[in-house]
Amino acid sequence: MESEATQYMSLTLAPADQQISRELDRAHVFHSWSAQAALNPLVIAGGCGSTVWDFEGNEYLDFSSQLVNTNIGHQHPAVITAIKEQADVLTTVAPAHANLTRGHAAQRILDRAGPSFSKVFFTNGGADANENAIRMARLFTGRDKVLSAYRSYHGATGAAIVATGDWRRVPNEYSRGHVHFFGPFTYRSEFWSASPEEESDRALHHLERVIQAEGAGSIAAILIETIPGTAGVIVPPPGYLAGVRAIADRYGIVLIFDEVMAGFGRTGGWFAFQSLAEDGEVALPDLITFAKGVNSGYVPAGGVIIPSMIAETFDDAVYPGGLTYSGHPLAMAAIVATLDAMEAEGIVANADRIGREKIALGLADLADRHPIIGDVRGLGVFWALDLVADRSTREPVPAAVIGKLKSAMLSQGLLPFFADNRLHVVPPCVVTEAEVDKAISIYDAAFAAL
Ligand SMILES: Cc1ncc(COP(=O)(O)O)c(C=O)c1O
Repeated sequence: MESEATQYMSLTLAPADQQISRELDRAHVFHSWSAQAALNPLVIAGGCGSTVWDFEGNEYLDFSSQLVNTNIGHQHPAVITAIKEQADVLTTVAPAHANLTRGHAAQRILDRAGPSFSKVFFTNGGADANENAIRMARLFTGRDKVLSAYRSYHGATGAAIVATGDWRRVPNEYSRGHVHFFGPFTYRSEFWSASPEEESDRALHHLERVIQAEGAGSIAAILIETIPGTAGVIVPPPGYLAGVRAIADRYGIVLIFDEVMAGFGRTGGWFAFQSLAEDGEVALPDLITFAKGVNSGYVPAGGVIIPSMIAETFDDAVYPGGLTYSGHPLAMAAIVATLDAMEAEGIVANADRIGREKIALGLADLADRHPIIGDVRGLGVFWALDLVADRSTREPVPAAVIGKLKSAMLSQGLLPFFADNRLHVVPPCVVTEAEVDKAISIYDAAFAAL
């Protein structure tokens, strides 16, 4: 990998382009979720594995996986080759036609999701995957409302952003029929719980009461991130997912697991609901939404994984949804190659092992030495450090502290992922032990310097 990195980097070493990239960006590019004037984005010219670099050759260990999507790492050669080969054959095709690569991609996704599912509807990313899962649930049940958690992010489009619970929902509330509830979060409990078990029971009670109060017969879907990601890698406590499954069954509600961030290797399994099996029992959703890790974002793609029971609703009735680029062949080729390479190279198993044997221990050791770390949670290559001003009150650290940590980490050659008061530790699934050691020592130094 190292020689590949050197080879790739030599292609992008062009110091003059550093300044031009900045100037063009600041002059012409409008960025997401930001006040534009003060932006000073990092220039990224290339990458390989878990490393990215700029045009001047400054390297950064990518412990963000960009937006938690480069599960297979940057520039995996098999995926690049597959995209190039597909480009030689057919670069675009309408969704109405049958396409071999699309069929192979759907089959590989279904193989990993398990025998309960039979079809895949492809989208361009995660938000439109959730839009379509919501649409399917509404049409399947003939009901209208969608329940989702306050601590969630489901995407930036019409229904997905209103299903989202975080602050980004508030200026975008134009879609109707959305109701929010609190999911379990043992470290910052809304339910005054003293243990994960109590948190699970109380959160389930709360969810059921919300359903009853809203009118169970009006609710089409419960949409949850299997592990809320952007909201803080909040691993659900024991019994919660199974409890939600039981509640959904009790009221005839479609259960949608949003695995856009958690799926395809990030938790050390193909899907988070599989990683979270208890005593060998998985809590199965009715619909799964995915994007990001399915092809590591090499070409934008997402989708909905559908069981026969829901797919058959549209055997004779028209499904009123679609996208010009649904099942785009370049994205499909990237999916096939990504999933094959992840399997052949044991990349998901690597995420699982390195999570348990390296990241968990390294972060626990940091927490022992730095009182700013209030909580460590996660699995696989999906972790968060909850940073607090005071461990007893759990008051989040102020934004200025996050700013200092971010600068310190970047200056030491690590690209971190911060969300609110949290450091998310989310490297690619291919990350090595040496890279984890290096990242932990950079985190350590940044905390020490505060
Ligand atoms: C859980 C979850 N769902 C949906 C989305 C939206 O995906 P996209 O940005 O591809 O539309 C995201 C993006 O971060 C996500 O984390």
